[in-house]
Amino acid sequence: MDEMNRVIVDLGDRTYSVVVGNGARSQTASLLPATARRVSIVTQSGIPRHLIPEFPDHVVTIHEIGIGEEFKSLSTILELCSAFAQAGMTRNDVVVGVGGGMVTDIAGFAAASYHRGIPVVHVATSLLAMIDAAVGGKTGVNIPEGKNLVGAYWQPYGVVCDLDALDTLPAREMRCGLGEMAKYHFIAREDLDQLPFPQRIARSVEIKAEIVSADEREGGVRALLNYGHTLAHAIEIETDFAMAHGEAVALGLLFAAHLAEAMGRIDADRVSEHYRVVHDVYGIELSLPQGLDNGRLIAAMGRDKKALESITFVLDSANGLEVVPGVSEADIRIALTAFTRRLS
Ligand SMILES: NC(=O)c1ccc[n+]([C@@H]2O[C@H](COP(=O)([O-])OP(=O)(O)OC[C@H]3O[C@@H](n4cnc5c(N)ncnc54)[C@H](O)[C@@H]3O)[C@@H](O)[C@H]2O)c1
Repeated sequence: MDEMNRVIVDLGDRTYSVVVGNGARSQTASLLPATARRVSIVTQSGIPRHLIPEFPDHVVTIHEIGIGEEFKSLSTILELCSAFAQAGMTRNDVVVGVGGGMVTDIAGFAAASYHRGIPVVHVATSLLAMIDAAVGGKTGVNIPEGKNLVGAYWQPYGVVCDLDALDTLPAREMRCGLGEMAKYHFIAREDLDQLPFPQRIARSVEIKAEIVSADEREGGVRALLNYGHTLAHAIEIETDFAMAHGEAVALGLLFAAHLAEAMGRIDADRVSEHYRVVHDVYGIELSLPQGLDNGRLIAAMGRDKKALESITFVLDSANGLEVVPGVSEADIRIALTAFTRRLS
């Protein structure tokens, strides 16, 4: 795809563009605030250098953060803020995060915190960051008590999704992005698989942009982005994160379909449509990790941060996805049995 797709995240005076296409990184400089004289790039050693945009008209410093969720921490934020100060960054300047969701979450939170908030532009290099993490303004870090427990909403000034980045993305990271992409089929109720892959990425960004524009702070429709995530979080915790997030989401989507069927919300054909998307369209044919206990999974789902009083799921229906509180343990057990049987 040579042409660029431009998706608008409509948030009044904080509206911004997401540029999607091969070579889109060359557009990054045009997204920076006009006031910026200095650019602090936040990236990781694993990100290929050719993906870092050039800013010939700015004073540029590059800061590498560690690889792995243990570096998604307040210490990393402190190190970055010190580095920004040493680079003479002012509130007129700009942070540019170049990397996957971990980098964009960290760069976003550091930018939100430094000088009480300076502009940030994201250059998303993983599929997951392109279609999810870099768009929407959720930033944050992990603390020992939980993932993403400390953070801020801080909308970027612009986002770049350079599809060239997917050429070097490791296969497992690609699969994680595809797991998240699968959820957009059900959120939008569209045959996204009819679109060529680059357009499907742009459409996924657009779906996320529409949801964020309608509900920036997750008071309503934004919760639908958590489709498949209740079981996914439980699997991640119970496997001590051996199963990656996007993989767990793919399983979570299938389980959510069984649960909706057990509750009489959808029929068997719609369950099969979930399998078609996850297995056939995206080729994610995973089984449940060995040794998972239904009781522990249910307990972990009950502790999910999205569950306020009882176990809450995002579930499909004839009218589309809905947030359903108060799901009974009996229905969850029926669905877990049907799910495990179909996967084996
Ligand atoms: N803010 C949000 O709304 C949101 C949404 C979903 C996920 N997240 C967060 O995103 C993070 C996961 O993001 P992720 O899946 O992108 O993982 P990641 O950022 O950890 O990247 C995975 C690995 O791929 C490497 N990588 C990235 N792009 C590459 C490329 N083009 N070529 C070669 N290697 C590349 C990275 O260096 C890293 O080692 C989590 O921390 C999660 O909490 C945030």
